[in-house]
Amino acid sequence: MCGIIGYVGSRGDPSEVLMAGLSTLEYRGYDSAGIAVGNGSLQIEKREGELEALEKAVSTKSFSGSVGIGHTRWSTHGPPSDRNSHPHTDESNSVAVVHNGIIENYQELRDELQTEGVIFSSDTDSEVVPHLVAKNLKAGDDPERAFQRAVDRLEGSYALACVIEGEDAIFAAREDSPLVLGIGEEGYYLASDVPAFLEYTRDVVYLDDGEFVTLTEDDYIVSKDGHRVEKDVKTVEWSAEQTGKSGYDHFMLKEIHEQPTSLRQCLSGRVDELAGHITVEELTDLETPRSVQFVACGTSYHAAMYAAALLRDGGIPATAYLASEYATANPPIPDDTLVVGITQSGETADTMSALRDANSRGAETLALTNVVGSSAARECDHVLYIRAGPEIGVAATKTFSSQLIGATLLVENLLEETADRELIGALRDLPSNVQAILDNSNAEAVVDDFLESNAFFFIGRGTHFPVALEGALKFKEITYEHAEGFAAGELKHGPLALVTEHTPVFAVVTGNGENAHKTISNIKEVEARDAPVVVVTDGQSDAARYADAVLEIPETHEQMAPLLANVQLQLVAYHMANRLGRSIDKPRNLAKSVTVE
Ligand code: F6R
Repeated sequence: MCGIIGYVGSRGDPSEVLMAGLSTLEYRGYDSAGIAVGNGSLQIEKREGELEALEKAVSTKSFSGSVGIGHTRWSTHGPPSDRNSHPHTDESNSVAVVHNGIIENYQELRDELQTEGVIFSSDTDSEVVPHLVAKNLKAGDDPERAFQRAVDRLEGSYALACVIEGEDAIFAAREDSPLVLGIGEEGYYLASDVPAFLEYTRDVVYLDDGEFVTLTEDDYIVSKDGHRVEKDVKTVEWSAEQTGKSGYDHFMLKEIHEQPTSLRQCLSGRVDELAGHITVEELTDLETPRSVQFVACGTSYHAAMYAAALLRDGGIPATAYLASEYATANPPIPDDTLVVGITQSGETADTMSALRDANSRGAETLALTNVVGSSAARECDHVLYIRAGPEIGVAATKTFSSQLIGATLLVENLLEETADRELIGALRDLPSNVQAILDNSNAEAVVDDFLESNAFFFIGRGTHFPVALEGALKFKEITYEHAEGFAAGELKHGPLALVTEHTPVFAVVTGNGENAHKTISNIKEVEARDAPVVVVTDGQSDAARYADAVLEIPETHEQMAPLLANVQLQLVAYHMANRLGRSIDKPRNLAKSVTVE
């Protein structure tokens, strides 16, 4: 996830609009940034690091022209560096492009262009675009056609904006990555998100997948498949407070709603439904180990429990360790063991220390992380990026769901059998299934009945056990109410003593197999103690019969059900915390990245 911005108009130096826009988009990425300005020769500035580094560079320059584009980056291909920052250009610096998304066929395009003699100057997937545009221009295309023909060659997701030397225009396109136009009095704006230009206009046009737009000082033309498209202009009514959150009250809620996109991005280019393959390019040199140890903390530990369960199910011995306990647990590391650190930030001290320990003991290591170039990524022999984009809310939401998918991709790569077709279908349907939950969830109404309660239990079996733990962690972290997660079968071994009519129990039950039936027995045990029961279910069993309230999830492959159930529990925690007036994005005593042991 990156942020892009564009401006064409009569306000004078476009760099001011671009820099102001980038500062509101920084939440979309902050490892490097850059701008390209000018209708004569293009002036380009780009810097590794937070926006401040670019601001310093820009403040010493003067820019002229009426058109410009900018970018703030969250790396997916190539570590953060000046050369990997956007805008990317062709060899003669006459075409500049900013890109948000992932170009899946970039290697094939890069090989083709290199064979034709093109020299690349970055490690990114995005750089193929300016070279393709330049090639089309050389072949005689007019600029608009040169851009559109370049985009037609791309597979994957993109919001793209392109400026060309000598042209008073921005050429842009969208596929599976957000892009919105701003219709102002002094020109037109283009951005990944409305706040980037809200200072200048509230009138917006949302572009749809497959659409192109050409913006000039006097007009904007949207087209699709070669035909002009008439678009509605909408007026945004957000308050200043909501602006950075794209209209949501909290970053956490925004990030929960970003999951269809972040999951799509995690899966992009890694699942080939036609061929029935799950292939992760980064893992092609990883051999199947004899055993796997996971190390992780908090939410990431719950993802580790899930991953270990999947591997064991596939016949590979696997254990999840709390990273802070790894050194004391001191597990033997047999030959051919892979140690996997799951850490969204890639900086958690406990996880880093466990990974260093494993490395020093000769294990092969892998980081499953969201941050390109993070400490964990650098420490490990292999890295698998979950591509969730930056997460601002302290409580992890979209990074957890992407960790579960990262774990699935890893496991499918490690198991030597061919991927299960049904799983591949479920991965394809995952973003729309999550969207269906987000559109229809009754979690807000459900929590309203429990505002007076101050102890909450979450139960689940098998791969729903980590979901129960995660549901409770999220709940306690942002509501400040007591919440505990249990393996459903464990209640009767002690915790049942705490269950009363004042302790709501959230139970996750999917499918209609043995696990579901046993969990239903556990639900009956708490029901008999008068506890209010909320069941998260896909409706395949009769669990709902024993529930006071039901949170529904779509039916899916059993491996994907925990992720869907967790989305409902994220909403439960969010709405409860919101009703209680808690500081949702910055819960007391907690930090986003914990860099002490
Ligand atoms: C809870 C949460 C934490 C983190 C934990 C590890 O919402 O976010 O429990 O999961 O601090 O952080 P990472 O994944 O960055 O190693």
